[in-house]
Amino acid sequence: METKTQLVPPKMATGGVTAAPPGSAPPAISSPSVNGPVMGPAGGAVPMIMPGMGEGNETLPMFGNRIAQTINSGFLTLSLAAGYRTGLFAALARYEGEPRTSQEIADDTGLKERYVREWLGAMVTGDIVEQDEDDKFVLPPHRAAFLGENGFGSELLILASALPMQSKVFNNVMDCFEKDGPNGVAYDHYTEFHHFMSLMSNVWWEKHLIPTFVPSVPDLRDQLESGISVLDLGCGEGGASILLAEHFPKSKFVGIDLIEDPIKHARAAVAEKKLSNIQFEVMDAHKIPESWNSSFQFVLASDSLHDMAHPVQVIQIVKRILTPEGRFSVLEVNAHSQIRQNKTMPYASTFYTNSLFHCMTVSLHAEGGEGKGNMWGREDTVEALKEGGLKVLFVHTPEGWFNVHYLCQK
Ligand SMILES: C[S@@+](CC[C@H](N)C(=O)[O-])C[C@H]1O[C@@H](n2cnc3c(N)ncnc32)[C@H](O)[C@@H]1O
Repeated sequence: METKTQLVPPKMATGGVTAAPPGSAPPAISSPSVNGPVMGPAGGAVPMIMPGMGEGNETLPMFGNRIAQTINSGFLTLSLAAGYRTGLFAALARYEGEPRTSQEIADDTGLKERYVREWLGAMVTGDIVEQDEDDKFVLPPHRAAFLGENGFGSELLILASALPMQSKVFNNVMDCFEKDGPNGVAYDHYTEFHHFMSLMSNVWWEKHLIPTFVPSVPDLRDQLESGISVLDLGCGEGGASILLAEHFPKSKFVGIDLIEDPIKHARAAVAEKKLSNIQFEVMDAHKIPESWNSSFQFVLASDSLHDMAHPVQVIQIVKRILTPEGRFSVLEVNAHSQIRQNKTMPYASTFYTNSLFHCMTVSLHAEGGEGKGNMWGREDTVEALKEGGLKVLFVHTPEGWFNVHYLCQK
């Protein structure tokens, strides 16, 4: 039987390196793990050239057709995001295959019928919702299971929401392209980013943090149970460290983030859950004080290192704040550093576009920012970790996620 995680296509994988089973030490890094092909969703290597996808046998009409389909899918993605945000998919899924008119759907969801009907136009012509002869609409059960609340496609619907969010900074990013334009775009322009990221990450953390991620770091569960200090670096709204703090009351957790808004959310969640073993601070990772030296047995940087202005400087700081035996877990998008090696990687264009409209661009906005971007890739990330003075103990792919996990030590 298929599980939810199998249905969410992981973008990734390390050639020759697989996710370690819970409790076992993941395989040591080897050159194929960094340089090998990115694998497809089914876990097998995707052929480097897909039939009909350019490279030789593609004609002009075929290419034109592909671009037309791409544009159509792009607009449909915007309506997918609308269906998620308005709760229309959740509502259609609740009807369990019983057809409804647009008026009935609008009344049930408290939305305007005219808007619901236009959205249904996009859904019907996009082959997502069906319309019958009586002008009633239905989301077939297998699609409802994917698009409904907590459905198999939750991560993908959240990902679709990145499209309208990033469109808001389109003009700012266009200005940055100009030679005499700004270097990057400030976080103030991304009012929804941290919440989007938290939704996206929390789906994975809730499924995998305790059952698979923690056991993938040798001895970490025992250490957390007996009581250690943990830093969540670039924590956003703090989903990962809050979950850890709930599960491991003897350990102490600190989350830091450059931006105040996600820290406010994190603090509110801590207050609501009445946790006393976790605190959140607004702090630039480049400015972690000397008084924190040798303080943490475990540091986590989940999707945050590439957003920082100077990742190698931050890695050097992590080295100084780790205890002698402390470990540093870095999660980053599972890509290669060389663009052409990512051609067959699922979601590669999505991530390069996300990087262009957010990750690279916020990093470049900072003073002297290096703008690594979320696709800086395994080869360059390993290089940066070594340059920062750390040993990379392993590189492996967590189950059902877009990321690769680098475990490091001094
Ligand atoms: C892509 S988000 C990841 C958030 C969270 N770790 C997660 O997995 O959902 C990257 C985070 O790094 C934070 N960040 C960027 N530069 C930073 C810096 N110099 N110091 C601390 N946090 C930083 C951003 O504000 C953002 O919350």
